[in-house]
Amino acid sequence: MEIGRSVYGSVGSSIVKEARAGENSRTMPNKDVVIVILAAGKGTRLKSSLAKVLHPAGGRSLVEQAVRACAPLKAKEIVAVVGHQAEQVAAAVAPHEVLTVLQHPQNGTGHAMLVAKRALGNAKIAIVLPGDAPLIRTETLKALLATHRLGNAAATILSVVLADPSGYGRIIRKGETQVGAIKEDSQLTPEQRELNEINTSIYCFTLAKLWPALAKVKPNNKHREIYLTDAIAVLASAGETVLAQIAPDAREGLGCNTRADLAEVDRIFRERKREELMAAGVTIQLPETVLIDPDVRAGEDCTLEPGVQLLGSTRLGTRCQVGTGSVLHSAILGDDVTVRAHSLIEESRLENGTIVGPFARLRTGTHLKARARISHSMETKKAIIGEGAKVPHLSYIGDAKLGSKTNIGAGTITCNYDGVHKHETTIGNKVFIGSNSVLVAPVRIGDGAYVAAGSAITENVPADCLGIARGRQSNKKGWAAKKRRELASHQAHAKSARNKPRKAKRRRR
Ligand code: UD1
Ligand code: MG
Repeated sequence: MEIGRSVYGSVGSSIVKEARAGENSRTMPNKDVVIVILAAGKGTRLKSSLAKVLHPAGGRSLVEQAVRACAPLKAKEIVAVVGHQAEQVAAAVAPHEVLTVLQHPQNGTGHAMLVAKRALGNAKIAIVLPGDAPLIRTETLKALLATHRLGNAAATILSVVLADPSGYGRIIRKGETQVGAIKEDSQLTPEQRELNEINTSIYCFTLAKLWPALAKVKPNNKHREIYLTDAIAVLASAGETVLAQIAPDAREGLGCNTRADLAEVDRIFRERKREELMAAGVTIQLPETVLIDPDVRAGEDCTLEPGVQLLGSTRLGTRCQVGTGSVLHSAILGDDVTVRAHSLIEESRLENGTIVGPFARLRTGTHLKARARISHSMETKKAIIGEGAKVPHLSYIGDAKLGSKTNIGAGTITCNYDGVHKHETTIGNKVFIGSNSVLVAPVRIGDGAYVAAGSAITENVPADCLGIARGRQSNKKGWAAKKRRELASHQAHAKSARNKPRKAKRRRR
C-alpha cells in the first residue's frame, strides 16, 4: 500500500496521509456521492487515553465498523476527518480505501465538514456519518440516499425514535415530512425535551446547498463549536427541503459516548454474529455467554458450549465441538475436532478428528495432524504432532516434531531452551516415550524407538533402540522390616518416658 498525498484541514500538519488499498473505486455506481466519516473528536466522556473511534465494539474499532458499513455503497470517495490521535486513526482505516483529512483543532462537527470541503471535490451529495455510531447498516444508508434523491432534498437526516432520548440532538419537525431544526440536548426547552425522535448524526447533504448554510453557522454554544446540526435550521429557514427518515431499527443510531454505550453496542454486534452462525447451522448453548469475532467462520453441526470465545480469524470445519470456557484465537480446525473444556488455542491448526484438552494450552505454531490427541493439562508451542499421535497428559512439547502414532508418556517435557537459544526435538513414527522423561534438545529419537520412563535423554536414540538414562535401581534385602523394628522400639521408649510420675518441684523462697 502506498501512502500518497495528504489533504490538510485549515490548520493542518503533514502527519496524516492518504491511505489507499484495493481498486474498488474504479467501479462506482454512486459516482456523485462522497462519504464523510467524522472521527476527529477525543471522546472526553469515555475517560480514556485512547481516541474514542479507536475503541473496539464487536471485535473491530468503531471507525472501522463505520467504514465497512459504507464500503459497499461504492461512493466516489470515503473521507475520514481525523484529529485526535490522527495517525492511529488513519492507520485503523488504512487497509480500506479511505482518504484522511486532518482537523486541528477540533472545533465541532460543522467545522469538521468545512475542513473536509476541499477533499470532497465536485461530488454532488455527501453521506455524513459520525465515527461513533458503528451499528449502522449498509441497507439503511442506501435507503437514506434513495429518499434524499427522490425528495430532491438539501438535507436528509437519519433519525430514530428512542424511549429515552436524553443526550441526543432532537428533530424539530415542521409539518408531516419536513424538518425545521435539530436542537442539541443542552439547548432544549422543557417541552422540546419531551420529543423522542433523535438525530443519529447520519445525513445526506446536497453539497451545493450545505456550504453556504454552514458558512452562516455561528459557534453559539457553550463549547464555542460550529455544529453541523445548526446548518439544518439555516437550510430550513431558507426554504430548502429538509427531510428526516426514521431508521427501521432504532439500535442503528446508538452513539458510543460512554463506556456503557460501548458495552451495549458490543453486545448487539455479538448477538448479530451469534445469530448469523446459528442460522448457518451452529448450535450455541447459552448464547449470551459466547463471544465470537466478526471474521470467525464455523461449519454445520458445530456445537459451542457456554462461555466459549472464538476470536480473530478462527475457522471451524463441520461437526466440531468446543467445550465450555475454551478460547480459540485464530485457530484453524478441520472437521470432527473436539476441544474439551477450558482449553486455550492460539494460531494453531487442528486437522480432522483431532482431540484437545481439557485444560490444554496450544500456543502459536502448533499443528495437529489427523486424529492426533493432546489431552489434559498440556502445553505445546511450534509443535507438529503426527497423525494419530497421542500426548495424553501433563507434558510440554515445544519446538518439536512428532511422527505418526507416537505416544508420549505423562510428564514428558522437551527441554528446548538453553537460556539463550531454542533447539529442536525430532521424534519419529511409532515412538514410545516413557513417563516423566526429559528430552534435552537438540535431540532425535528414531522411528520405533523406546525411551525408558524417567530418562533424561541428552543424546540421539536411533530407530528401534531403547534409550534409558537414569540411575540404576537396587533393592536392599530386609531393609524395610529392620527400619520398622527400629522405629517401633523408639516409639515404645518415648511412651514409657512420658508415663513416669514426675517428682514434685521444690518451691524456692
Ligand atoms: C452528535 C450530534 C447530536 C446527535 C449525536 C448522535 C452535533 C453537534 N451533535 O452529538 O445531534 O444526536 O451526535 O450520536 O453534531 N467530531 C469531529 N470533529 C469535531 C467534533 C466531533 O470529527 O470537532 C466527530 C467525533 O469524533 C464523533 C462525531 O463527530 O465521531 C460526533 O461527535 P460527538 O462529540 O460524539 O457528538 P455528540 O455529542 O454525540
Ligand atoms: Mg457521539
